[in-house]
Amino acid sequence: MSKSAENIKQLTTGLEPVEALAKLAELFPGEIVFSTSFGWEDQVITHMIFANNLPIKVFTLETGRIFPETYYVWNRTMEIYGQPIYAYYPQHAAVEQMVNAKGPNSFYESVENRKECCGIRKVEPLSRALNGNKCWITGIRAEQSVNRADMHNVEWDEQHNLVKFHPIFSWTLDEVKEYVKKYNIPYNTLHDRGFPSIGCQPCTRAIKEGEDFRAGRWWWEDQSKKECGLHELIIDNK
Ligand code: ADX
Ligand code: SF4
Repeated sequence: MSKSAENIKQLTTGLEPVEALAKLAELFPGEIVFSTSFGWEDQVITHMIFANNLPIKVFTLETGRIFPETYYVWNRTMEIYGQPIYAYYPQHAAVEQMVNAKGPNSFYESVENRKECCGIRKVEPLSRALNGNKCWITGIRAEQSVNRADMHNVEWDEQHNLVKFHPIFSWTLDEVKEYVKKYNIPYNTLHDRGFPSIGCQPCTRAIKEGEDFRAGRWWWEDQSKKECGLHELIIDNK
């Protein structure tokens, strides 16, 4: 862990998530962002930011392949809080080239193709969204996967050269749900239909009782390859 990540760890230890967010917003004025994909973890953090008017920019990576339910909760969140959520889109020339060469669903054919699609639709836009910032907030929780359990709530992101902070890292799913209920936070209705983790529509499906939280993401791939590149450097064991 780098020195600045260690400092942040010390400064935020013992603080409630919302207090930690406020502290980081103070430390990194104009250089702190939160990425949301509108899952309930992200909705909890969005609520903390918007309800407390924290100066943290909220953005989403709009891949062009998300669920109608996700657009609905995105729109509803903007209506309820009256605050902006910035969308980053893929470069149209790269999408056109990939789709024209391989068709719209090339990601089912190989891990390489899937990573190409995630690279174009998520990873490149992410680097633009993070550019110039010093702190990146996410909704990652330890419980979500074995890989994630090995992570920490504060990390140094070598690739983007910033501190990554996961304010509800240690929360259980029940705690997330209780918070959503308590504050009447809008959430993606797919969560009520067996989708604990929601990404792009063609790459996400419902899970069965007892299955891993992320079993419905890229379900046709080998477990160890199932990260899209957003958080890969830290958690991939390759
Ligand atoms: S992913 O890497 O497998 O797609 P996951 O869906 O678990 O990630 O989400 C973990 C965190 O990554 C979210 O809380 C959010 O901060 C960020 N994230 C994932 N997908 C997006 C997206 N499309 N736009 C913005 N942030 C995202
Ligand atoms: Fe493409 Fe699927 Fe990755 Fe979305 S999750 S960017 S559709 S491969």
